[in-house]
Amino acid sequence: MCSFRDQETTLDTMLRLITISLLFTICFGFKQGRIVGGHSTDITKHPYQVSLEMNGLHNCGGSIISPDWVVTAGHCVAPVNTSLIIYNPIILRVRAGSTYREKGGYLHNISKAIVHPYYREILFMGADIPEYDVAVLKVDTPFLFNDAVKPISMTHVSPSDGDAAVVTGWGVFNYTLRPGYSNKKLPSQLQALDVGIVDQQECKRELLVITDQMVCASAPETFQDACNGDSGGPLVSKGKLVGVVSWAFDLCAMTGRPEVYADVANLRKWIELVTGIA
Ligand SMILES: *[C@@H]1O[C@H](CO)[C@@H](O)[C@H](O)[C@H]1NC(C)=O
Ligand SMILES: *[C@@H]1O[C@H](CO)[C@@H](O)[C@H](O)[C@H]1NC(C)=O
Ligand SMILES: *[C@@H]1O[C@H](CO)[C@@H](O)[C@H](O)[C@H]1NC(C)=O
Repeated sequence: MCSFRDQETTLDTMLRLITISLLFTICFGFKQGRIVGGHSTDITKHPYQVSLEMNGLHNCGGSIISPDWVVTAGHCVAPVNTSLIIYNPIILRVRAGSTYREKGGYLHNISKAIVHPYYREILFMGADIPEYDVAVLKVDTPFLFNDAVKPISMTHVSPSDGDAAVVTGWGVFNYTLRPGYSNKKLPSQLQALDVGIVDQQECKRELLVITDQMVCASAPETFQDACNGDSGGPLVSKGKLVGVVSWAFDLCAMTGRPEVYADVANLRKWIELVTGIA
Protein backbone atom coordinates (compact mmCIF):
# COMPACT_ATOMS: atom_id res chain seq x y z
CA MET A 1 0.00 0.00 0.00
CA CYS A 2 2.83 2.41 0.79
CA SER A 3 4.53 3.62 -2.32
CA PHE A 4 6.91 6.50 -2.35
CA ARG A 5 6.41 8.89 -5.20
CA ASP A 6 8.17 12.11 -5.84
CA GLN A 7 5.73 14.88 -5.21
CA GLU A 8 7.38 17.30 -7.58
CA THR A 9 7.34 15.13 -10.67
CA THR A 10 3.85 13.68 -10.36
CA LEU A 11 1.92 16.74 -11.36
CA ASP A 12 -0.69 14.95 -13.50
CA THR A 13 -3.50 16.71 -11.71
CA MET A 14 -3.79 18.85 -8.65
CA LEU A 15 -6.15 16.39 -7.10
CA ARG A 16 -3.82 13.49 -7.51
CA LEU A 17 -1.35 15.31 -5.35
CA ILE A 18 -3.67 15.11 -2.41
CA THR A 19 -3.51 11.36 -2.62
CA ILE A 20 0.22 11.42 -2.82
CA SER A 21 0.55 13.79 0.07
CA LEU A 22 -1.66 11.65 2.24
CA LEU A 23 0.19 8.50 1.32
CA PHE A 24 3.37 10.28 2.15
CA THR A 25 2.03 11.00 5.61
CA ILE A 26 0.73 7.55 6.17
CA CYS A 27 3.91 5.83 5.10
CA PHE A 28 6.56 8.08 6.49
CA GLY A 29 4.95 10.03 9.24
CA PHE A 30 6.06 13.29 7.73
CA LYS A 31 3.52 16.01 7.44
CA GLN A 32 2.71 17.45 4.08
CA GLY A 33 0.95 20.25 5.90
CA ARG A 34 2.55 23.61 5.77
CA ILE A 35 1.97 27.18 6.61
CA VAL A 36 3.15 29.33 3.74
CA GLY A 37 3.75 33.02 4.29
CA GLY A 38 2.96 33.05 7.98
CA HIS A 39 5.05 34.58 10.75
CA SER A 40 7.02 33.13 13.64
CA THR A 41 5.15 33.16 16.89
CA ASP A 42 5.44 32.08 20.51
CA ILE A 43 3.66 29.20 22.22
CA THR A 44 2.34 31.56 24.92
CA LYS A 45 0.21 33.19 22.20
CA HIS A 46 -1.19 29.77 21.20
CA PRO A 47 -0.79 27.69 24.40
CA TYR A 48 -3.37 25.12 23.22
CA GLN A 49 -1.08 24.04 20.35
CA VAL A 50 0.76 20.74 20.71
CA SER A 51 3.04 18.74 18.47
CA LEU A 52 2.21 15.10 17.84
CA GLU A 53 5.52 13.29 17.49
CA MET A 54 5.98 10.00 15.75
CA ASN A 55 9.24 8.22 16.37
CA GLY A 56 10.53 11.42 17.92
CA LEU A 57 9.76 13.56 14.87
CA HIS A 58 7.07 16.20 14.57
CA ASN A 59 4.26 14.64 12.56
CA CYS A 60 1.06 16.56 13.19
CA GLY A 61 -0.41 19.33 15.26
CA GLY A 62 -3.13 19.10 17.87
CA SER A 63 -5.08 21.20 20.36
CA ILE A 64 -5.44 20.78 24.12
CA ILE A 65 -9.15 20.73 25.06
CA SER A 66 -8.90 19.54 28.69
CA PRO A 67 -6.27 18.43 31.25
CA ASP A 68 -6.30 14.96 29.63
CA TRP A 69 -7.36 15.31 26.02
CA VAL A 70 -6.02 16.55 22.69
CA VAL A 71 -7.97 16.93 19.45
CA THR A 72 -6.17 16.16 16.20
CA ALA A 73 -7.00 14.98 12.67
CA GLY A 74 -8.28 11.46 12.01
CA HIS A 75 -5.68 10.99 9.29
CA CYS A 76 -2.89 11.74 11.80
CA VAL A 77 -3.92 8.75 13.90
CA ALA A 78 -5.82 6.34 11.64
CA PRO A 79 -2.73 4.80 10.00
CA VAL A 80 -1.47 3.67 13.39
CA ASN A 81 -4.66 2.31 14.89
CA THR A 82 -3.33 -0.97 16.17
CA SER A 83 -3.05 -0.83 19.93
CA LEU A 84 0.47 -2.14 19.63
CA ILE A 85 1.61 0.96 17.82
CA ILE A 86 -0.62 3.60 19.31
CA TYR A 87 0.28 2.96 22.93
CA ASN A 88 3.96 2.61 22.29
CA PRO A 89 5.42 5.94 23.46
CA ILE A 90 8.45 5.47 21.27
CA ILE A 91 6.09 5.73 18.30
CA LEU A 92 3.56 8.38 19.29
CA ARG A 93 3.58 11.10 21.93
CA VAL A 94 2.47 14.66 22.56
CA ARG A 95 4.76 17.63 23.17
CA ALA A 96 3.05 20.60 24.84
CA GLY A 97 4.27 24.02 25.91
CA SER A 98 7.08 24.50 23.41
CA THR A 99 7.56 27.18 20.76
CA TYR A 100 10.13 24.93 19.13
CA ARG A 101 9.70 21.72 17.21
CA GLU A 102 11.01 18.52 18.83
CA LYS A 103 12.51 20.23 21.88
CA GLY A 104 11.49 21.90 25.12
CA GLY A 105 8.09 21.89 26.76
CA TYR A 106 6.58 18.77 28.25
CA LEU A 107 6.27 15.30 26.76
CA HIS A 108 3.22 13.16 27.38
CA ASN A 109 2.70 9.55 26.51
CA ILE A 110 -0.66 8.59 25.07
CA SER A 111 -2.96 6.15 26.84
CA LYS A 112 -5.87 6.22 24.41
CA ALA A 113 -6.41 7.25 20.80
CA ILE A 114 -9.88 7.30 19.27
CA VAL A 115 -10.57 8.09 15.62
CA HIS A 116 -14.07 9.19 14.60
CA PRO A 117 -15.96 6.04 13.60
CA TYR A 118 -17.09 7.66 10.33
CA TYR A 119 -13.59 8.79 9.40
CA ARG A 120 -12.84 7.68 5.88
CA GLU A 121 -11.30 8.84 2.69
CA ILE A 122 -13.75 9.65 -0.07
CA LEU A 123 -12.43 8.67 -3.46
CA PHE A 124 -12.94 11.67 -5.67
CA MET A 125 -11.44 11.88 -9.15
CA GLY A 126 -8.62 9.64 -8.08
CA ALA A 127 -7.91 11.53 -4.85
CA ASP A 128 -8.60 10.48 -1.28
CA ILE A 129 -10.38 13.25 0.59
CA PRO A 130 -10.58 12.73 4.36
CA GLU A 131 -14.07 13.01 5.82
CA TYR A 132 -14.97 13.18 9.54
CA ASP A 133 -11.27 13.91 9.88
CA VAL A 134 -11.01 14.07 13.65
CA ALA A 135 -9.48 12.01 16.46
CA VAL A 136 -8.88 12.46 20.17
CA LEU A 137 -5.83 11.44 22.20
CA LYS A 138 -5.75 10.93 25.95
CA VAL A 139 -2.45 11.71 27.63
CA ASP A 140 -1.36 9.36 30.40
CA THR A 141 -0.31 12.20 32.70
CA PRO A 142 -2.51 15.33 32.77
CA PHE A 143 -1.30 18.62 31.34
CA LEU A 144 -0.13 21.07 33.98
CA PHE A 145 -1.52 24.39 32.81
CA ASN A 146 0.70 27.47 32.70
CA ASP A 147 1.38 30.36 30.29
CA ALA A 148 2.53 27.93 27.61
CA VAL A 149 0.06 25.09 28.21
CA LYS A 150 -3.66 25.88 28.22
CA PRO A 151 -6.84 24.33 26.88
CA ILE A 152 -9.01 25.99 24.29
CA SER A 153 -12.77 25.66 24.25
CA MET A 154 -14.54 24.27 21.25
CA THR A 155 -17.03 26.40 19.38
CA HIS A 156 -20.73 25.52 19.41
CA VAL A 157 -21.42 27.27 16.12
CA SER A 158 -19.65 26.99 12.81
CA PRO A 159 -17.81 30.21 11.91
CA SER A 160 -19.30 32.57 9.32
CA ASP A 161 -18.08 33.82 5.97
CA GLY A 162 -15.34 36.39 6.48
CA ASP A 163 -14.70 35.68 10.17
CA ALA A 164 -11.06 36.27 11.09
CA ALA A 165 -9.17 33.16 12.20
CA VAL A 166 -5.61 32.07 12.89
CA VAL A 167 -3.98 28.76 12.01
CA THR A 168 -0.73 27.64 13.62
CA GLY A 169 1.78 24.86 13.15
CA TRP A 170 5.28 23.66 12.38
CA GLY A 171 4.52 22.58 8.81
CA VAL A 172 6.71 23.59 5.89
CA PHE A 173 6.41 27.34 5.60
CA ASN A 174 8.53 27.97 2.55
CA TYR A 175 7.03 26.36 -0.51
CA THR A 176 10.33 26.37 -2.43
CA LEU A 177 11.79 24.07 0.22
CA ARG A 178 9.36 21.30 -0.65
CA PRO A 179 11.33 19.32 -3.22
CA GLY A 180 12.90 16.39 -1.43
CA TYR A 181 10.60 17.04 1.50
CA SER A 182 12.03 16.05 4.82
CA ASN A 183 11.31 16.76 8.43
CA LYS A 184 14.58 18.68 8.67
CA LYS A 185 13.14 21.40 6.45
CA LEU A 186 10.28 22.18 8.77
CA PRO A 187 10.54 25.45 10.65
CA SER A 188 11.93 25.12 14.14
CA GLN A 189 9.73 27.90 15.46
CA LEU A 190 5.94 27.80 15.58
CA GLN A 191 4.31 29.66 12.65
CA ALA A 192 1.01 31.51 12.62
CA LEU A 193 -1.08 32.73 9.71
CA ASP A 194 -4.16 34.95 9.72
CA VAL A 195 -6.89 33.61 7.49
CA GLY A 196 -10.56 34.32 6.77
CA ILE A 197 -13.42 31.84 6.85
CA VAL A 198 -14.81 31.10 3.38
CA ASP A 199 -18.54 30.64 2.88
CA GLN A 200 -19.30 26.94 2.60
CA GLN A 201 -21.25 27.20 -0.67
CA GLU A 202 -18.48 29.20 -2.26
CA CYS A 203 -15.93 26.66 -1.02
CA LYS A 204 -18.04 23.86 -2.47
CA ARG A 205 -18.03 25.61 -5.83
CA GLU A 206 -14.24 25.76 -5.78
CA LEU A 207 -13.37 22.39 -4.25
CA LEU A 208 -16.52 20.36 -5.01
CA VAL A 209 -16.16 17.80 -2.22
CA ILE A 210 -17.08 19.91 0.80
CA THR A 211 -19.31 18.18 3.37
CA ASP A 212 -21.03 19.44 6.53
CA GLN A 213 -18.07 18.16 8.54
CA MET A 214 -15.74 20.59 6.79
CA VAL A 215 -15.10 24.30 7.13
CA CYS A 216 -12.97 26.33 4.69
CA ALA A 217 -10.59 29.22 5.19
CA SER A 218 -8.12 31.09 3.06
CA ALA A 219 -5.42 33.71 3.41
CA PRO A 220 -5.94 37.16 1.88
CA GLU A 221 -2.92 37.06 -0.43
CA THR A 222 -1.63 34.66 -3.04
CA PHE A 223 1.59 32.97 -1.91
CA GLN A 224 0.24 33.18 1.57
CA ASP A 225 -1.65 30.11 2.53
CA ALA A 226 -2.17 27.87 5.44
CA CYS A 227 -2.51 25.17 2.80
CA ASN A 228 -2.89 22.06 4.87
CA GLY A 229 -1.37 24.21 7.55
CA ASP A 230 -0.20 21.50 9.78
CA SER A 231 -2.56 18.54 9.82
CA GLY A 232 -4.40 18.09 13.09
CA GLY A 233 -3.52 21.60 14.20
CA PRO A 234 -5.85 24.36 15.40
CA LEU A 235 -7.90 26.91 13.48
CA VAL A 236 -9.06 29.44 16.04
CA SER A 237 -11.62 32.21 15.67
CA LYS A 238 -13.00 34.52 18.37
CA GLY A 239 -10.99 32.61 20.97
CA LYS A 240 -12.57 29.24 20.17
CA LEU A 241 -11.36 26.17 18.35
CA VAL A 242 -13.37 26.15 15.11
CA GLY A 243 -11.35 23.81 12.89
CA VAL A 244 -8.80 21.01 12.71
CA VAL A 245 -6.36 21.25 9.78
CA SER A 246 -7.47 18.55 7.33
CA TRP A 247 -6.64 18.90 3.64
CA ALA A 248 -6.01 21.20 0.70
CA PHE A 249 -5.24 21.08 -2.95
CA ASP A 250 -1.57 20.83 -3.55
CA LEU A 251 0.15 24.00 -4.74
CA CYS A 252 -2.52 25.78 -2.79
CA ALA A 253 -0.37 28.77 -1.99
CA MET A 254 -0.12 29.19 -5.76
CA THR A 255 -3.76 28.72 -6.65
CA GLY A 256 -5.36 30.76 -3.90
CA ARG A 257 -7.92 28.04 -3.24
CA PRO A 258 -9.22 27.66 0.32
CA GLU A 259 -7.85 25.02 2.65
CA VAL A 260 -10.16 22.67 4.45
CA TYR A 261 -10.59 21.97 8.15
CA ALA A 262 -12.69 19.52 10.11
CA ASP A 263 -15.66 21.52 11.45
CA VAL A 264 -15.43 21.47 15.25
CA ALA A 265 -19.01 22.71 15.78
CA ASN A 266 -20.28 19.80 13.73
CA LEU A 267 -18.04 17.18 15.34
CA ARG A 268 -18.01 18.33 18.96
CA LYS A 269 -20.90 16.10 20.06
CA TRP A 270 -18.81 13.05 19.23
CA ILE A 271 -15.76 14.59 20.92
CA GLU A 272 -17.79 15.27 24.07
CA LEU A 273 -19.25 11.79 24.04
CA VAL A 274 -15.93 9.94 23.89
CA THR A 275 -13.93 12.27 26.14
CA GLY A 276 -16.63 13.02 28.69
CA ILE A 277 -15.89 16.75 28.35
CA ALA A 278 -19.08 18.76 28.61
C1 LIG B 1 -7.66 -0.44 12.31
O1 LIG B 1 -8.72 -0.91 13.10
C2 LIG B 1 -9.74 -1.55 12.37
C3 LIG B 1 -10.86 -1.88 13.33
O2 LIG B 1 -10.39 -2.45 14.51
C4 LIG B 1 -9.13 -2.78 11.70
O3 LIG B 1 -10.11 -3.43 10.93
C5 LIG B 1 -8.00 -2.34 10.78
O4 LIG B 1 -7.37 -3.46 10.23
C6 LIG B 1 -6.99 -1.54 11.55
N1 LIG B 1 -5.99 -0.99 10.66
C7 LIG B 1 -4.70 -1.19 10.83
C8 LIG B 1 -3.80 -0.52 9.86
O5 LIG B 1 -4.26 -1.87 11.73
C1 LIG C 1 6.67 7.34 28.35
O1 LIG C 1 6.78 5.93 28.38
C2 LIG C 1 8.12 5.48 28.36
C3 LIG C 1 8.12 3.96 28.26
O2 LIG C 1 7.23 3.39 29.17
C4 LIG C 1 8.84 5.94 29.62
O3 LIG C 1 10.18 5.54 29.58
C5 LIG C 1 8.78 7.46 29.64
O4 LIG C 1 9.34 7.93 30.84
C6 LIG C 1 7.36 7.96 29.56
N1 LIG C 1 7.39 9.39 29.40
C7 LIG C 1 6.62 10.18 30.13
C8 LIG C 1 6.76 11.64 29.86
O5 LIG C 1 5.82 9.77 30.94
C1 LIG D 1 12.54 30.03 0.75
O1 LIG D 1 13.65 29.19 0.48
C2 LIG D 1 14.42 29.61 -0.63
C3 LIG D 1 15.45 28.55 -0.89
O2 LIG D 1 16.23 28.32 0.25
C4 LIG D 1 14.99 30.99 -0.33
O3 LIG D 1 15.75 31.44 -1.45
C5 LIG D 1 13.85 31.96 -0.05
O4 LIG D 1 14.38 33.22 0.32
C6 LIG D 1 12.98 31.43 1.06
N1 LIG D 1 11.82 32.31 1.20
C7 LIG D 1 11.40 32.71 2.38
C8 LIG D 1 10.17 33.57 2.36
O5 LIG D 1 11.94 32.39 3.45
